[in-house]
Amino acid sequence: MKQIVLLAVLLFSNFLPLIAQEPGLNDQRIARIFSLEKKYLQNAWDHVKTTGEMPRSTQKGFQPIEDWTSGFYAGNLWLTYEFTGDKKILKKARQATALLEADKDLTLNHDIGFIMYCSYGNGYRLTHDKVYKDILMHASRTALTRYNPQVQSIMSWDPQPERDWKFPVIIDNLMNLEMLLKTTALSNDSSFYKVALAHANTTLKNQYRADYSCSHVVDYDPGTGAFRKRDWNNGNSDPATAAWSRGQAWGLYGFGFLYRDTRHKKYLEQADHIAGYILHHPNMPNDMVPYWDYSAPQISTMRDASAAAITASALLQLAPLSVHGKEYFAAAAKILTSLASPEYLNETGQGIFLLKHATGNYLRKSELDAGLVYADYYFLEALLRYRALKKKMGRR
Ligand code: GLY
Repeated sequence: MKQIVLLAVLLFSNFLPLIAQEPGLNDQRIARIFSLEKKYLQNAWDHVKTTGEMPRSTQKGFQPIEDWTSGFYAGNLWLTYEFTGDKKILKKARQATALLEADKDLTLNHDIGFIMYCSYGNGYRLTHDKVYKDILMHASRTALTRYNPQVQSIMSWDPQPERDWKFPVIIDNLMNLEMLLKTTALSNDSSFYKVALAHANTTLKNQYRADYSCSHVVDYDPGTGAFRKRDWNNGNSDPATAAWSRGQAWGLYGFGFLYRDTRHKKYLEQADHIAGYILHHPNMPNDMVPYWDYSAPQISTMRDASAAAITASALLQLAPLSVHGKEYFAAAAKILTSLASPEYLNETGQGIFLLKHATGNYLRKSELDAGLVYADYYFLEALLRYRALKKKMGRR
């Protein structure tokens, strides 16, 4: 334990020269962003309370709780409560979270982890309410129902003959494993841990290319578990070269917490390699808010602020764990400074989303130049992580 603390101190000490260098991201600016978020949460509240639907995007408005994004509004309330300590926000966070309870039985797809961990997971982290723990345990048991021991993965979507998909697994699915690792720690039930690691190892084996970029979709034979093909659904459509920027961010985030929670070195190595791919990509713009696909800036100059926010949060999660921590902290600070600038931040107080210029699915012409609830979630999470790292070093 002592050695881990010492290592963390040594890694953190590398950040010191960087900490004072981001004037666009000082405490006042961060407080201003959370006060704007309070306004946007309030602007959405009446609709949420009266319909039970949750905000998704500027184009798709509010959606029913089966939607994969339904946990993020409650998550944004929890993160805003964490920053402000405002009891009125806490009350709303509890109410919005309770509206999602039926999702503990959601088996339509793999998204239960996104939905329940951002809402109930944050609720449990901040309150230790036993009801939240029980619902998380229930949701994790539900998540295991889509696991196939031949494939050694959780199936993301049901088979789709029109796409010739028998057992599709998408990179986003890695994010669902955080809930399984948490419930392992809460219960000492190793079945969640075994499935999480099996899924992660299958992803490691089949989803990534030699340059540490990944395709969005991998399809498997559910009978034999054999790899069938790489494919796309989001990002660019060439499965050999596509590098959907949000997908690369999901992978970075996923392997980061897999290392944090299991201490298996191969996950840290993978996360470091993915970070290397992202941070040194020749198509990364100067402001570090990526295009919607790293392989395709020639098709469109459209950015994805959600990919930027997820990448920043993932880098800050990884920074204290990696020998590259100094580079990751600096890169995350740069991304957050861009997102906190008027170019990306909605400072009008109007509407329900904090960030501008996110991309839902470019080739499908869906949610273009959008506000997306999950872009806001990972932005807020990254700001909290940034502030916590600075505080740990005794600098404000
Ligand atoms: N998980 C769906 C997406 O990132 O678009």
